[in-house]
Amino acid sequence: MTTGTATAQAHPNIAFIKYWGNKDQELRIPVNGSLSMNLDGLFTQTTVTFNTFFPKDSLTLNNKPITGAGLDRVTGILDLVRQRAGMNTSAEVRSDNNFPTGTGIASSAAAFAALALAASTAAGLHLDEQQLSILARRGSGSASRSIPGGFVEWQAGADNDDSYAFSFAPAEHWNLADCIAVISSEHKPTISSQGHTLASTSPLQAARIADAPRRIDICRQAILNCDFEALAAIVELDSDMMHAVMMTSTPALFYWRPATLAVIQAVRDWRSEGLPVCYTIDAGPNVHVLCPQEYVETTANRLRTVDGVQEVLVSKTGGPAKLV
Ligand code: PMV
Repeated sequence: MTTGTATAQAHPNIAFIKYWGNKDQELRIPVNGSLSMNLDGLFTQTTVTFNTFFPKDSLTLNNKPITGAGLDRVTGILDLVRQRAGMNTSAEVRSDNNFPTGTGIASSAAAFAALALAASTAAGLHLDEQQLSILARRGSGSASRSIPGGFVEWQAGADNDDSYAFSFAPAEHWNLADCIAVISSEHKPTISSQGHTLASTSPLQAARIADAPRRIDICRQAILNCDFEALAAIVELDSDMMHAVMMTSTPALFYWRPATLAVIQAVRDWRSEGLPVCYTIDAGPNVHVLCPQEYVETTANRLRTVDGVQEVLVSKTGGPAKLV
């Protein structure tokens, strides 16, 4: 009988320079590189158990059984692991998030990073960080960035083996925080996997891609120099460019709600008054407001006063995916 079990935890990450669109949809090889920071306070914990007595793969997410597309996506990763380990045993996957799913807090990044680590370990494989990042990427592109710790770069690469993420500064390098203004915790209407397929229909996407290496260089340097002003300018530009592409694709994707714009405006006002804050938004209505850690309380308290903000989740820079 083949059995094996492992439990892993991974953090979501917030992209400073964003990934939107693939040059290979199936392999999830992105059209541009991206930079991110792992989010310490939030995590997904996943246990994978292989057992020959299981008739088929099963998935439980936050204590709810999941079938259909959600399970198929997980089975896709389990198949890659089984292929590599030379086995055909079914698995039970149990996964829990300590944050709301489907809101623009990248739940799929943490989920597939934790799955890649737990499944490969349970199957007896000993993958290094690069191989784990490649495996996680196959489930969700941004999951490649939740394998290494701290401040992370995902190099786009040209094929499966050179599209992976690595850490370019540890979590302790810069005490940044992400105050997430939650505007809605409903599931988003267009998941990012579908969104990526529409990116190339926007006439703005080519310009966004062409300029990406420049934005990556500026952002990496701002992080290495702990230069908040430079970081704020490039992070907001990059987020605005991605949303411009989303809004001008066919069909158009509008993830913002009125309260999203209210937070954007408030953040711009606060910064002009001297508070070091900036915004970035993923494929959802919530606004990630970045600031140095000593400004977390002021920032979170101010965000709670903006109409339409339901709650504020606070997260510091997080470490790598790990076995527990
Ligand atoms: O990894 P996905 O398919 O969930 O795509 C992530 C897309 C964004 O969150 C909008 C940007 C990013 O780089 O994280």
